[in-house]
Amino acid sequence: MQKLEQLYEGKAKKVYATGDPNLVIVDYKDDATAFNGAKKGTIAGKGVINNQMSNRLMAKLEKAGIPTHFVQELSERETVVKKVSIVPLEVIIRNISAGSFAKRYGVEEGIVFDAPTIEFSYKCDELGDPLLNTYHALALKLATPEEIETIKKYAFAVNNFLKDFWSSCGVTLVDFKLEFGRLADGTIVLADEISPDTCRLWDSKTREKLDKDRFRRDLGGVEDAYAEVMRRMTEAL
Ligand code: TMP
Ligand code: ASP
Repeated sequence: MQKLEQLYEGKAKKVYATGDPNLVIVDYKDDATAFNGAKKGTIAGKGVINNQMSNRLMAKLEKAGIPTHFVQELSERETVVKKVSIVPLEVIIRNISAGSFAKRYGVEEGIVFDAPTIEFSYKCDELGDPLLNTYHALALKLATPEEIETIKKYAFAVNNFLKDFWSSCGVTLVDFKLEFGRLADGTIVLADEISPDTCRLWDSKTREKLDKDRFRRDLGGVEDAYAEVMRRMTEAL
């Protein structure tokens, strides 16, 4: 399958048309941003890791009954995915307090919740991805009530699956962000990526951060952390 014209360039990926109107090719970059693009940098080799990790996880999720956009890995950085129109919601699941949750509610990081939480942000860079609830999402016509129910059901199912998978790799899944898309017939599928860019992953024993927080917080060892989670995943597969 061949890349035709570039349809879109995001902060971490480019998207290209193919000869099939229902398929596109994503090409993962090493570019990294944080704080809505205010902080910019490069994480060498990140595109390869994020592409491969996301594909392995989506293939597993698909087998577990969660529909995804994943079709076929083409190369180290390129993957064929189903063309979707992205639902403009960032869906965040949390198992442990961290990041903006800890800041917003004035609590320490590392509090293990009795049950996972879900929250939504309006995916809109100009507004800084503001937090919203499902009533706001409906008022803004970002999704239908049925779509929101489906998205919630899939997001918690992804959490159950990923928590167990990462646990088997000695990694604790703290929180993560998902995006969903609509196929041409309206079917909701998991889209975007699942990677150390979009998940908080802590070493289960030492609680060492093995994700993009190392870049966001200037902790150093960013490339090594991405390589380490990829290594552990590959060993577990
Ligand atoms: P937060 O604590 O900053 O709200 O982040 C929650 C999770 O969402 C964390 O795993 C990182 C991920 N995330 C993204 O993937 N993209 C984003 O733009 C933000 C802000 C967070
Ligand atoms: N999406 C955020 C940004 O653009 C990155 C992050 O914090 O993960 O800059």
